[in-house]
Amino acid sequence: MKKLRLNNNTLMPALGLGTWQSAPGEVGRAVEVAVRAGYRHIDCASIYGNEAEIGESLAALMADGVVARKDLWVTSKLWNDRHAPEDVAPALRETLDKLKLEQLDLYLVHWPVALHKGVLRPQTAADMRSLEDIPPAQTWAQMESLVDAGLCRTIGVSNFSVHKLEALIASSRIRPAVNQVELHPYLQQPKLLEACHRENVVLTAYSPLGSRGRPAVLKTTSDPDLLEDETVVSIAASHRVTPAQVLIAWALSRGTSVIPKSANPNRIRQNFEAASVILAKNDLEKLAGLDRHRRYINGAFWALDGGPYTLANLWDE
Ligand code: A2P
Repeated sequence: MKKLRLNNNTLMPALGLGTWQSAPGEVGRAVEVAVRAGYRHIDCASIYGNEAEIGESLAALMADGVVARKDLWVTSKLWNDRHAPEDVAPALRETLDKLKLEQLDLYLVHWPVALHKGVLRPQTAADMRSLEDIPPAQTWAQMESLVDAGLCRTIGVSNFSVHKLEALIASSRIRPAVNQVELHPYLQQPKLLEACHRENVVLTAYSPLGSRGRPAVLKTTSDPDLLEDETVVSIAASHRVTPAQVLIAWALSRGTSVIPKSANPNRIRQNFEAASVILAKNDLEKLAGLDRHRRYINGAFWALDGGPYTLANLWDE
């Protein structure tokens, strides 16, 4: 399994299992199938609401000797209502309790968006706090102290633009090691990729298959389905692999980490096998031509009337 060396010298398995939208009742089995198939990187988050079941599954796999803790990479994320300095360490401790772990491999600030404590999903502008009110640098200082305390090995961010990432790096004592963002051939983000390369930050690609399973509120009838894209389908046919495998192989070929979500045993195994698919130069050229800066997870749920966030100031574009 290919590993990526992070700026704190730890090695993160490049391909991981995504668990967003893996329902309680199925996520434990998904994790078990994945680890038995060879996955060594599991991507979690407090807001996914399924960490306790993932923790049960990981504990059983370790107790059965299927995997040792030192060979697993577990990521989780700080939710937006816990950005206040006094809330960061307790939030990580809750996640560790649920996951039944003593230490995370990677803890990410989930969004550059702050909510009042206890608000999981904002309904009105009054639920939100601005980044002036609660600057990312303040939250980050607490993330750094989690590393000092040994509660996580590595820290990073998610959904950060080049501008926000560079601002955070400028004021940080411990650099973010990872930025996890939406990436796939319809949203290639070349400037962000280049900036992360320059800053020695690894990008992790979420929704790499085009997030078919995203909630209905995030769908419109005109959304293109990446897994049915003609170019992707024809490259897959030429290699006798599936479109999903082409998308995963593409993400790995760019030096990013990638975390396709599946709760289906066959697709979990299929996605893992994508690591051995080698795309040719002309396949990569054709895939490069698909970029259309199309976000499936566009953050519109943060852009509430009268609130501090807009799509322009969220993505800085
Ligand atoms: P399922 O969990 O039933 O397999 P993303 O990682 O971009 O968010 O995509 C996840 C979505 O893609 C889920 O709906 C998932 O469904 C589906 N999916 C995962 N792997 C595959 C695959 N190999 N082929 C087709 N669909 C897949």
